[in-house]
Amino acid sequence: LAEGPLVGRKIVVTSGPTHEPIDPVRYIANRSSGAQGTAIARTLAMLGAEVVFVTGPAEEPRPEGVHIVEVQTAQQMMEAVSAAMPADAAVFAAAVADWRVDGASGSKIKKQDGKIPSLSFSENPDILASVSQAKSDRPKLVVGFAAETDDVVENATKKRLRKGCDWIVANDVSPETGIMGGKENAVVLISDDGAEHWPRMSKDAVAQQLAERIANALG
Ligand code: C5P
Repeated sequence: LAEGPLVGRKIVVTSGPTHEPIDPVRYIANRSSGAQGTAIARTLAMLGAEVVFVTGPAEEPRPEGVHIVEVQTAQQMMEAVSAAMPADAAVFAAAVADWRVDGASGSKIKKQDGKIPSLSFSENPDILASVSQAKSDRPKLVVGFAAETDDVVENATKKRLRKGCDWIVANDVSPETGIMGGKENAVVLISDDGAEHWPRMSKDAVAQQLAERIANALG
């Protein structure tokens, strides 16, 4: 029998990078490992939540006990998140590509002597902003992430207001921190109450603390 403080709650979690195709064999991506999003989804499920885990192509093993939706692109991720609504809470840990390649080719672009292709881009939908600002069925709690390399608190505070989400989990992903792709994270939780600095801990411990906070916020 299911037990835990999140029984009866539905939570959508996005995770991993997105891949934006150039042609069938090439794509644009980013360095997100999916580790933090996966840990959050697993922990929420362990606390009893019904979790819809919408993940881009990540190396990280998929969490157990969650409903998994695999996507490649930002547009597919947006569609999967919309299809998963309504939910009590949404946690957007994915590193969504800001842009997609215009007119991605259906066949492999051939190397031609002396000809270098150029790419143009369009802006991808902002999933976090769109769910945060939804006129109907907005989740009670919307949590975004902010991977920053400079002025972490200031930038994340602005981001929270711009996107309209309730919390931002901000972290410093400067290469020297070893956080991106690593096992540990050092986050600042930005909410209406200000900025709360958490000590550096494992991504599993961050997930545990965050999941408990989410359970408290949902009451
Ligand atoms: O826009 P930016 O990447 O700075 O903000 C990061 C937060 O926004 C993350 O929570 C990320 O999952 C979310 N995001 C999104 N859709 C996008 C871009 C970012 O959900 N297209």
